[in-house]
Amino acid sequence: MKLGCCYYPEHWPESFWVEDARRMAAMGLQLVRIGEFAWSRIEPEPGRYDWGWLNRAIDTLHAAGLQVILGTPTATPPKWLVDVMPDMIAIDEQGRPRGFGSRRHYCFSHQGYRAECRRIVTALAERYGQHPAIVMWQTDNEYGCHDTVLSFSDAAAASFRGWLAARYGTVEALNAAWGNVFWSMEYRSFTEVDPPHLTVTEANPAHWLDYRRFASDQVTSFNREQVDILRSLSPDKDITHNFMGFFTEFDHHDVGRDIDVATWDSYPLGFLEQFWFSSDEKRAYLRQGHPDIAGFHHDLYRGCANGRWGVMEQQPGPVNWARFNPAPLPGMVALWTLEAAAHGAELTSYFRWRQAPFAQEQMHAGLLRPDSTEAEAANEVRAAADELANIGPQQTAQAPAALVFSYGAAWTIGIQPQGQSFRYLELVFECYSALRSQGLDVDIVSPDADLSAYRMVVVPTLPIMPEGFAEKLAALACPVLLGPRSGSKTASFTIPEGLAPGDCKQVIPLTVTRMESLRDGVSEPGDGFAVTRWREDVRSRLEPEISDAAGRGVVYAKGQARYCAIWPDRALLRQLIERMAHEAGVVLTDLPEGIRVRRSASHSFTFNYAAEPVFVPHLGKTLAPASWHIAPREA
Ligand code: GAL
Repeated sequence: MKLGCCYYPEHWPESFWVEDARRMAAMGLQLVRIGEFAWSRIEPEPGRYDWGWLNRAIDTLHAAGLQVILGTPTATPPKWLVDVMPDMIAIDEQGRPRGFGSRRHYCFSHQGYRAECRRIVTALAERYGQHPAIVMWQTDNEYGCHDTVLSFSDAAAASFRGWLAARYGTVEALNAAWGNVFWSMEYRSFTEVDPPHLTVTEANPAHWLDYRRFASDQVTSFNREQVDILRSLSPDKDITHNFMGFFTEFDHHDVGRDIDVATWDSYPLGFLEQFWFSSDEKRAYLRQGHPDIAGFHHDLYRGCANGRWGVMEQQPGPVNWARFNPAPLPGMVALWTLEAAAHGAELTSYFRWRQAPFAQEQMHAGLLRPDSTEAEAANEVRAAADELANIGPQQTAQAPAALVFSYGAAWTIGIQPQGQSFRYLELVFECYSALRSQGLDVDIVSPDADLSAYRMVVVPTLPIMPEGFAEKLAALACPVLLGPRSGSKTASFTIPEGLAPGDCKQVIPLTVTRMESLRDGVSEPGDGFAVTRWREDVRSRLEPEISDAAGRGVVYAKGQARYCAIWPDRALLRQLIERMAHEAGVVLTDLPEGIRVRRSASHSFTFNYAAEPVFVPHLGKTLAPASWHIAPREA
């Protein structure tokens, strides 16, 4: 795994560059990502390019032995472009234009903006496509960041109508699929259909789901236009996009198919603060991040681009964008780095080289402080570089467990949660965490993945079963767990004939006759677990394998397949994983709180995420906070 950093030569006097490059290399960095926000400096006025500074910056980095990842600058269209083409601006769900003065203000559907992007990407690729310093291209920056996948502009509405016409052929087919007879919502032509926002009460969920699918396709095709240009003008270089954490607004598996390396931006402390974690977890892991946040994304993104992935932005200190922004515990930056290697990353690049003293991110730490002195993380980068050199390259080994992840499932549940605490990402994360806290390595895979090599398969929920998926599950010879709401909707967001779980009946014969959601704080007892958030009534000739204290069926099993008819709490997930592992002959390791294990083909890594020393039974020793233990893997 190579180490790198994100660098903005345009933010610093040119007199800094040589010394910066020298210090990067001396710190153990090999990669530098540049350029992704530099449009106003590359093209200060329409059609007038200024390549001089970028040539010199790339040559300076190259001369220091560094390899460059060059970003396309399309996340930051400059003011002159917005003024020439004001309707390229995205429109938010409230119908308000997104103003100039930060970034990501464009609409993915605007054909004029797309043409401008093709032009600037072509110019960059012609100029640098063969440059020996460039090893990788990054398209744009964090598609969807700041809530920017959905736009409700005229351009988006027009493209949506075309998308619907291609999908349905006739407007009658659309009316039938969506059930538009309900509330007299029928259309006479595709030109009558608007985006689903600003309706009096909720719009038809089928309308929303198609809008989300359309918006996701717009991101994919926007990205593909850049990929096509880069492939033709710079055929030997890898292409990546830097995805975000805990983000489901577009289908990353679709974008992942078009790129070579899926990278993601890892800010474990910011994510802990901003997402659903309990106050106790936020306190316990304040300076470390929850032990599964980084691993979850490593394993998810490894499944997006044929196994090639990395970390493009690694938090090096306090960030500026969460509600509270603590500093990492000493050791965590190195631990996060080694954990990425343990999960098979090709690169970890720190965001950013030097903290900027100006503009929006002046409170965001870098490897250097604004005065160029080394920040706390610098020594940890050296320590990580040394450790990486000691252990040598890491190959990914076959994981025993697969966790099936679907962006479409996130949209479906998000559009119709039915109970406000039924959160798709949280459910998947809880399943992941249950597997990992029992010592298992996990691949997070798309429903399209080949599942035949796994020893157990967990599908947290899949409301809309893609064609052939139930057959694929039914053919598996390993334990399979299907979560609540699986198979509960058709592709056009209707209740399936014969009721839920629809196609899953091939896997396990039962019918869900009623679904209810429970408000927060309600907890109905089971044997060592509790029913919270969600419960289904099931009719089946199968006797329940697990029931609650009142005798209502909770888990049904046939052969090695199980259906869980409630929101599974942590205790129930543990029980289920124990049963599955037992059937599969997979050995579990019950890990102490805060400890995680990950095996590469050659090594076994143990990480302590706790803020205290923890005795680790499988090592027979105590690990200090934010420390790790690496051993050759036993045969
Ligand atoms: C990322 C983004 C970077 C920077 C960083 C700050 O989301 O890609 O450009 O803003 O956050 O943490």
